[in-house]
Amino acid sequence: MAEATAPRRVLVLGGTRWLGHRIALGHLARGAEVTCLARGEGGPVPEGARLVARDRGEADAYGGLAGEWDEVVDVTRLPSHARGALDALAERAAHWTFVSSVSAQRLEAPVGADEDDDLVPEDESGEEYGGAKAWIERVARERLGDRLAVVRPGLIGGPGDASDRFGHWVARLALAGDGPVLIPERDQPTQTIHVGDLSRFIVERAPALRGTVNAVGAERRLHELIHLARSIAGHTGALVRATDEQLEAADVGHWMGPRALPLTLPRALASHAQRSSARYLAAGGEHRPLEPMLADALEDERARGLDRASPNRLSRADELAVIDSLASTHG
Ligand SMILES: NC(=O)c1ccc[n+]([C@@H]2O[C@H](COP(=O)([O-])OP(=O)(O)OC[C@H]3O[C@@H](n4cnc5c(N)ncnc54)[C@H](OP(=O)(O)O)[C@@H]3O)[C@@H](O)[C@H]2O)c1
Repeated sequence: MAEATAPRRVLVLGGTRWLGHRIALGHLARGAEVTCLARGEGGPVPEGARLVARDRGEADAYGGLAGEWDEVVDVTRLPSHARGALDALAERAAHWTFVSSVSAQRLEAPVGADEDDDLVPEDESGEEYGGAKAWIERVARERLGDRLAVVRPGLIGGPGDASDRFGHWVARLALAGDGPVLIPERDQPTQTIHVGDLSRFIVERAPALRGTVNAVGAERRLHELIHLARSIAGHTGALVRATDEQLEAADVGHWMGPRALPLTLPRALASHAQRSSARYLAAGGEHRPLEPMLADALEDERARGLDRASPNRLSRADELAVIDSLASTHG
């Protein structure tokens, strides 16, 4: 698909945090005049962008945003914020990109599920993340029709990932050095899109899109990822394999959480990391290879501290305790 003509006047509803900041930067690099609307609590907007500091929870949050927009990008997860923006701005936007999530679709989708798979029940209250995104998708479509692109990222990785998921394995292997690292015995699919590939798609391709695209990464096996990460991190210690039952008995969880092994999924939900990226690729999306993704993540992880506390991964101390308990169980 051809690149969209670069929009000239761009409004990013967000722009102070990870993905939104990169989107604003990308539009600036293409010569757009970029305005970001956010509270400003997430950090500064990129140099060259204008911040309109507003709380979207307040009445008249969009007052003072004069004129028309070639492109509006909204990253919100809150239906009330999305509705307010649509009420105030939909009639003045030539095109609108809503950054949704594959979580808007059912978690237990079949292998290879695409954009047309079932959505989760809508949640206008905003309490259920996926349901909130599903609600916003529908209401935005009703308001904007073919001026709307919905981009549904899967798990996003890369520098600046505050959720600490994709970087876990390469960081842990680097931290362990010649020490042991706990890994699941069950190999399983993983699927992570690099934040740079995703933001490029949203900046360069989404403005010409009508409809919905699941922007998911290439499917890679976890063991392949761990072995590649091991060579990048220079890990020479043992990989200590644990079965699902052993991990469960040791209270080690999946995906994210204080005792989680990131990127892992329960067997019954493995297809969550096997979504189709066919439409994303056909629309001009790209998948960078895994090796530079891991190298990039390691550099960022080192800068943030390999042994920092994280609410989303099993700590090194807890991991070593689990490895000890496995050794003593084996006798
Ligand atoms: N991480 C993943 O793996 C993943 C996967 C699928 C989809 N996604 C989606 O990807 C997007 C990520 O966006 P992001 O990295 O830019 O981060 P984000 O943390 O979702 O950003 C929210 C933006 O909205 C602004 N905001 C929040 N509350 C506000 C308020 N009351 N008034 C005005 N502005 C407000 C924030 O800025 P201030 O705090 O400065 O106001 C920030 O710029 C989201 O749409 C997320 O749902 C993420």
